[in-house]
Amino acid sequence: MSDIKYSFGLWTVGWPGADPFGTATRPDLDPAESVRKLADLGAWGFTFHDNDVYPFGSDDSARQKHIDSVKQAASDTGMVCEMVTTNTFTHPVFKDGAFTSNNRDVRRFGLRKVLRNVDLAADMGASTFVMWGGREGTEYDNSKDLNAAHARYAEGIDTVGSYIKEKGYGLKIALEPKPNEPRGDIFLPTIGHAIALIDSLDNGDIVGLNPETGHEQMAGLNYTHGIALALHLGKLFHIDLNGQHGPRYDQDLVFGHGDLLSAFFTVDLLENGFPNGGPRYEGPRHFDYKPSRTEYLDGVWESAKANMETYDMLAAKAAAYRADSEVQAAFEHAGIFELGQSTLAEGETFDSFLAEADPDVDALAEKDYGLVRLHQLALKHLIG
Ligand code: GCO
Ligand code: MN
Ligand code: MN
Ligand code: MN
Repeated sequence: MSDIKYSFGLWTVGWPGADPFGTATRPDLDPAESVRKLADLGAWGFTFHDNDVYPFGSDDSARQKHIDSVKQAASDTGMVCEMVTTNTFTHPVFKDGAFTSNNRDVRRFGLRKVLRNVDLAADMGASTFVMWGGREGTEYDNSKDLNAAHARYAEGIDTVGSYIKEKGYGLKIALEPKPNEPRGDIFLPTIGHAIALIDSLDNGDIVGLNPETGHEQMAGLNYTHGIALALHLGKLFHIDLNGQHGPRYDQDLVFGHGDLLSAFFTVDLLENGFPNGGPRYEGPRHFDYKPSRTEYLDGVWESAKANMETYDMLAAKAAAYRADSEVQAAFEHAGIFELGQSTLAEGETFDSFLAEADPDVDALAEKDYGLVRLHQLALKHLIG
């Protein structure tokens, strides 16, 4: 295995396979055992929801016992707890949302659960605090005052940001967009929506994104473009890698088991950066997938391994693709390096710019960018 820092949510391998149509197909796993097993498989880190580690409603001493057992596994194996997130979706109290529930008592309870979990995240040494608002949304457009709902969502995120700052924790918040499921429509359905709301926050400086491959693809969007925008804006704080076949229910497949070409370009961006340089993602390569419910325990660990193996293979292919002089020449021919030059010259005035004679547009229109050939070169590297 490569020395890439791979990380897994404990809820991924720990998913027992219950879905809306059938009960669990596997037993529950002990989260501490999962940490050990993932370490054996070559993972570097792990992440969890509060209730992946201790049951909802645990008293303080039971809670601490569960936490200590995971901490012990982490210290025995050297596994890093890099991110913590809060379950504000399983218990029926959250059926109309946590931060955006119509009921103020529910909102206050949800916010308290999240703040308490911020303390745990800091205690675990995590650097990122993910917020996936799975139940923040509606089935019907008249279910909420949609302005107030967005205001409450912003208020909730800002409150968590202000708590982090007041406590002096080094945590950053990463919002995770998803268009639907479990709600008919979830608020902040895409990377773009989340970025727009972050811009309005008082504590937006410590709020960024945790985009999930399949969630953008459920919305028919391009994941690599989405994380590119987040990188461009300095907002790519974390990633959830997995696989999905276009708009349908959330498949949470192994990374690369959905749109493989898209996965190749995601890895190419993450590992090799933009062709003209620019911001890089330095965080862990985090997988948020579900072992299909057809698998039993062997299949769970096989599927965990498959994520890392696929990423490793794609990273090797992407490195060879970038190192290929034919590819670099095709980049040059296509104008990819030219796109790195600013459109206006340094110090250029509007007067001189507007006075410039137009180019021969008919000649420019005949340019052949060679993008099909370039893409075929990528395909050859991927499957050749
Ligand atoms: C999904 C989501 C969740 C969140 C997780 C983090 O697949 O719908 O990815 O798994 O990532 O709950 O809070
Ligand atoms: Mn998902
Ligand atoms: Mn996710
Ligand atoms: Mn998930």
